[in-house]
Amino acid sequence: MKNTAKKGGQSDPVFELIAAEKMRQKEGLELIPSENYVSEAVLLAMGSVLTNKYSEGYPSFKGISSLSEAVSGGDGFVAPVDSGAVTEGLEASEKAISEEILPNYRYYGGQANVDRIERLAISRAMRLFHADHANVQPHSGANANEAVYFAWCEPGDKILAMNLAHGGHLTHGSPVTRSAKIYNFVAYGVAEDGDIDYDELERVALEELPKLILVGYSAFMKIPDFDRVAAIRDKVAKKAGFEVLLMADMAHVAGLIAGGVHPNPLDHGFDVMTTTTHKTLRGPRGGLILSRGVVSSPLKKCEKKLANIPTLIDKAVFPGTQGGPLEHVIAAKAVAFREALLPSFREYAAKIVENAKALAAGLSQHGFILQGGGTENHLVLVRVQDSFGVNGKFYEKALDLVGLTLNANSLPGDKGAAFKPGGVRLGTPAITTRGMGIPEMQQIADWMYAVVQICVKAADEKGLAKFDDELKVIREEVREMALKFPVPAIS
Ligand SMILES: Cc1ncc(COP(=O)(O)O)c(C=O)c1O
Repeated sequence: MKNTAKKGGQSDPVFELIAAEKMRQKEGLELIPSENYVSEAVLLAMGSVLTNKYSEGYPSFKGISSLSEAVSGGDGFVAPVDSGAVTEGLEASEKAISEEILPNYRYYGGQANVDRIERLAISRAMRLFHADHANVQPHSGANANEAVYFAWCEPGDKILAMNLAHGGHLTHGSPVTRSAKIYNFVAYGVAEDGDIDYDELERVALEELPKLILVGYSAFMKIPDFDRVAAIRDKVAKKAGFEVLLMADMAHVAGLIAGGVHPNPLDHGFDVMTTTTHKTLRGPRGGLILSRGVVSSPLKKCEKKLANIPTLIDKAVFPGTQGGPLEHVIAAKAVAFREALLPSFREYAAKIVENAKALAAGLSQHGFILQGGGTENHLVLVRVQDSFGVNGKFYEKALDLVGLTLNANSLPGDKGAAFKPGGVRLGTPAITTRGMGIPEMQQIADWMYAVVQICVKAADEKGLAKFDDELKVIREEVREMALKFPVPAIS
């Protein structure tokens, strides 16, 4: 990919900007908890000629459901790819998948290679997450969520999800989304201790009798009690007299689940799990839907029953909400799933959490008040307004100046304007990929304290100009440390 800017004798500024972005990623520290750095192999698959191919529809699912059954082991944790007998099973199955050409459910010819690639992606995803079925086609996390709602709900049906201001995602019922115009979202929230208010969840669920209960979040730092929510679902279904779909949106923590350091909702009674593939899972930008149930032909009619959810989801993704799948991205997902099956990914996942805890402890020592008192996953929510009287947006901008990238985030009970929230959200997936550990977490906490002190003195963004020299010193220190930890695929 060298000299692409000058290919054909023409210079395209797009490539200069990509080069500039490489430098930004290399010289700064990425603390946005939903970002990560992919491997060279993932990039290679994503930038491949598969982008040239149309493949509306699906490959055959024959022979891949048995793979997850054979290897998931039932202990709630992932069996690493290269662990003895399991590896032999996997390699044999993968060999069969990559060699066998089967009749498919596609609408175009020329599918032999993409079929086999998509089958590998599906089988690896199922193995990682103990699912009966995987749909690897959603273009993004938002598309994945919409497809599940569309698969199960009718217009006007109720969906119970986490309050956005308490950590839920826009796609969980924000009035600005298409889903919120179609379905009737009701919300539960978090309690004082930062954990889900399960009593409220149960009360609202039994009052509202939703068709779908969703556990998922973008800014939440506890491990959910999936068993408790599954028991609530059973009570709701009994009272309502209809089946209730239990869905988990694990976009943020999928990599922690794959790495065995976070429970898997599919092992705790959930029917469906959606995720993005680009956050802790460290794959290409995209979505993924995993489900429990009977796998069947996506072309056949099927009744809206929980048992049929894999097929209902396939139909809802294509043709329900998307057209041709992005097979270059699906290939990159397959590569990332294989990486996530390796024992080294389990170490990576454990290290993400260890680093997040160390970062939280370092921030607490400096007097930052943390939502929920700390973290159990990859993410820390800092009550910066309550701690130092500095709003989240101002702090985000000041940290940008020194090369520390995170995002302002609203907090439960935030009184300020939406664009001036009281908190910031940060996390450790990307810096852990670079190989950073406990000493670096302490150093980042020290810099964050130094910058918040400057914000206090500067009072507002304009005032920061007076502290240019101090900010420049920190910027240099950040750059120096960042360059010691290479970003994968950026030389
Ligand atoms: C919990 C959750 N669900 C869904 C999404 C949407 O993912 P995407 O941006 O890929 O549409 C996000 C993204 O931040 C998320 O945090």
